[in-house]
Amino acid sequence: MADHVEEIKSRIDLADLVREYLSLTNSGSNLKARCPFHQEKSASFMVSPAKQIWHCFGCSTGGDLFSFFMKIEGLEFGEALRILADRAGVVLERHDPRIQGEKNRLTALLDLASQYYHQALLRAPQAETARAYCAQRHLDGALIDTFRIGYALPEYEALNNFLLSRKFTMAEILAVGLAIKKDRGYGCYDRFRDRLIIPITNVHGSVIGFAGRVLTADDQGAKYINSPQTSLYDKGRTVFGLDRTKQEIRKRDAVILVEGYMDFFALYRAGDIHVAATSGTALTVDQIRLLKRFTQNFLFAFDADTAGGQATMRGIELALKEGCNVRVIQLPKDENGVPIYKDPDECVTHESAAWKSVVEQATSFVEYSFGRVITPVAQTDGFEKKKATRRLLEIIGLLPDRIEQDHWIRKLAATLSLSEAILWEELSKTKDRPGRIEASRQGVTPMVPTPHTSSDILMSLLLHRPQQFEQVSGRLEEVMLAGDHARSLYRMFSSFYTEHKNPDVVEDFFESTKKILPADRVQPYFFLAESSLGALSELDVPTVAKSLTEKIRQEYIKERLDLLRHRMNQAEKQNDTTALQEAMREFQIIQSL
Ligand code: UTP
Ligand code: MN
Repeated sequence: MADHVEEIKSRIDLADLVREYLSLTNSGSNLKARCPFHQEKSASFMVSPAKQIWHCFGCSTGGDLFSFFMKIEGLEFGEALRILADRAGVVLERHDPRIQGEKNRLTALLDLASQYYHQALLRAPQAETARAYCAQRHLDGALIDTFRIGYALPEYEALNNFLLSRKFTMAEILAVGLAIKKDRGYGCYDRFRDRLIIPITNVHGSVIGFAGRVLTADDQGAKYINSPQTSLYDKGRTVFGLDRTKQEIRKRDAVILVEGYMDFFALYRAGDIHVAATSGTALTVDQIRLLKRFTQNFLFAFDADTAGGQATMRGIELALKEGCNVRVIQLPKDENGVPIYKDPDECVTHESAAWKSVVEQATSFVEYSFGRVITPVAQTDGFEKKKATRRLLEIIGLLPDRIEQDHWIRKLAATLSLSEAILWEELSKTKDRPGRIEASRQGVTPMVPTPHTSSDILMSLLLHRPQQFEQVSGRLEEVMLAGDHARSLYRMFSSFYTEHKNPDVVEDFFESTKKILPADRVQPYFFLAESSLGALSELDVPTVAKSLTEKIRQEYIKERLDLLRHRMNQAEKQNDTTALQEAMREFQIIQSL
């Protein structure tokens, strides 16, 4: 496994990979860009082509090729390994090539089917109604292309015949759920006929299944039929649209979750690209974890008639348990409190300003629940009050944060005239403690706090130019440096220097630090010099090293003298002559440095 990783790293250049996502500019021997993992105006994201590492000084993250790819694509290690191996042409032996081969064929089949449907929508004479339907639903050319929306012809074996002609087998077509076996007799027929086809993709953008919508209101069949569960399509692990919207979701650090495909398209078209669709069922833990790779902030936008429905509530509660911040977008209502639009699609399409304002006013889920559960009767009737309290305590119990819980307990007590003590007691009985701890363990671990003192910058400079150690060590002692990291690096320089005498080989020193300090401690230092000092010319290096050394020295001396002055004062007050003399002696020594 480790060999594969190293092999892949040697074949794919980190800078090349990063360039697919960001535009990098030169900064000395490094490259820099605005960090994709947090919002920033100036570029603190650095890449070293020589060392094949990256680091962001803004959000203190960094690592190698793998960590970058995992983080930017929201992948787990295994997935990243598979994709990068493929790209590097490295064969992972542990994979059964037969399974891999079969999976590849099915993926290719689904991809081809999606193109077939798409071309039919664009060109087939029979697709006239479907094209009109798209126009009516505001599915414009750009959306149709981006999401490869298509049309399934009315014939019973249109797709089947096409796929067979392209040398796929009936068994394969059945395996991906595109054909159905006839009840009687032999043969199979197309699952999707005379429907608008929406390809369902996984988070990497491969087609894994389809949804087909009827085109006419009076059609007898279900509004949507969907691909069945297959080896590639697992409904409970799929979130619709994420492959296209994940970057924006990460950028905005929020996702708007809608129920329907049509809601998704309407929001996407209107420019709310940080959207994903749950496809009308309760969110599963797997879906929540998938979304959490990109953001913890979920904004639910339900249809008017399902808001508060069982399935939706279950999904939300799971999200809270997983440590997400959940807010609810409430569709605008008329003066009688009746929703004006039935779903986000209608709202954003007919009145985009109203949509904007409800998004801005999205309330926390708990607040939303207060509004729903605390009805006038719950405030007066004892039994109803108890029911409402139980329900809200259940929800408050899901919150991972005690302070937040405290806030809502107070509010609940005040609203229903109950004692806070009793509410806390009742709350402690609700089981199912949530998992923010787990939530923070996911994702990329934050690194050592970003180093920024003069000591740190000097150490960084030494990492690039170990030759300067001679000059520096003449004026500096380890104790003078601020911070444990800087000191331990300095100690390493010392021994490295003593050992090698002529440390011309920068490479060697950097490599040898790795054996002693964890990579994520050394890497930030490596980039620090350039990020704080800009690109230095060779001539400047000694001057800068010298002035940093002097600064650190002066800071140390000042700090030490302040401390000794304080000690002398104390000793005088307490008439402690021994302590006083000791402090004075040290004071003189330091002063003479
Ligand atoms: P909606 O009825 O809200 O669908 O169901 P929609 O996408 O907004 O479509 P329009 O606006 O009526 O045309 C929400 C989701 O539930 C799933 C689909 O994923 C749909 O997008 N669903 C709904 C089905 O799978 N089958 C159905 O018969 C109905
Ligand atoms: Mn709808």
